[in-house]
Amino acid sequence: MNFWQYIRKPIYALAPMEDVTDTVFREIVMSISDDNHLNMLFAEFTSVDGLFHPIGKDKVSHRLKINPSEMELMKKKGVKIVAQIWGNDPEKFAYAAKHITENYDYDGIDINMGCPIRKIVHQVACSELIRFPDLAREIIQATKEATHLPVSVKTRTGIKEHQTEKWISNVLQAKPDAITLHCRTQKMLSEKPAEWEQIRIAIDVRNSLSQTTPLIGNGDIFTIDDAQMKIDEYKPDGVMIGRGIFRNAWIFNSPQKVVAKQERLQTLINHTELFRKTWENQKSHSILKKFYKIYISEFPGSAELRSKLMAAPTLDEVLSIANSELNSIEI
Ligand SMILES: Cc1cc2nc3c(=O)[nH]c(=O)nc-3n(C[C@H](O)[C@H](O)[C@H](O)COP(=O)(O)O)c2cc1C
Repeated sequence: MNFWQYIRKPIYALAPMEDVTDTVFREIVMSISDDNHLNMLFAEFTSVDGLFHPIGKDKVSHRLKINPSEMELMKKKGVKIVAQIWGNDPEKFAYAAKHITENYDYDGIDINMGCPIRKIVHQVACSELIRFPDLAREIIQATKEATHLPVSVKTRTGIKEHQTEKWISNVLQAKPDAITLHCRTQKMLSEKPAEWEQIRIAIDVRNSLSQTTPLIGNGDIFTIDDAQMKIDEYKPDGVMIGRGIFRNAWIFNSPQKVVAKQERLQTLINHTELFRKTWENQKSHSILKKFYKIYISEFPGSAELRSKLMAAPTLDEVLSIANSELNSIEI
């Protein structure tokens, strides 16, 4: 049975984020979240053109990697994982969906119809598909026909103005298994405040069409209490959190946790070690720098410690600094 129908609601999902939500970070987030407040993960978006290309395939495949240890933790905690693909050619979407279904252990496939970045929009992909409703439906249909996995869509409310009613009814015509709505237009990027009233409009559209497609709301959730307030007020089937994880890696816990320095250091060490085991020789260690701020904060001396970590030239050095700081607490 399609997991979107039976998964526990409200759904709490970690958003797909390029160069952030790889298998390593997803496992770390899961390991520090409570089982009732994180039950879905999305992988970074992967280009269908890349997957279709004999050389490109090797270059983009790291985005789809799922470590066995991540899979094991997901099974233990009952968390689902969804791959996300983007492009503009229905045939390549079908190819990518088949490839992912046959070679990976994803529970579902999501189509990106939301990314507003100029270089992607210029390729008539992602949020730009809102301008091309027929092509958008064709892409959903072609993807669905190529896989037995459920196919969902992550999108925005419009291009320059909200056109939630018209656009969401168009998407629903193609019968996706779920929709995540980031309640901003393409033009709003992530700068203007998210407008949650648009989630209510989308839900009304779905209900008026007598459909039960789960609808997840996304945009500007920065605390678990806010997530719960949004669920109570707007009644989505779930919420998705993206940048909130940078402010607080422990965001998927209720009640909100106060995290001690010791746990922060240990989490950084776990992340660094898993990163090394997974990506050594494949990804530069500087990718890790964006994570120091989320773990190493909110205790006296955290800014100085962060500067030291930023200047560390190797992962060994990062681990040595973090371990000696941790040992100095334990003494
Ligand atoms: C660094 C970064 C990378 C992102 N990459 C993706 C992506 O690969 N696919 C996608 O659908 N959205 C991507 N997004 C958008 C987020 O998934 C999310 O929709 C957006 O940040 C709004 O949610 P928030 O306000 O909770 O952050 C990205 C956002 C950020 C900040």
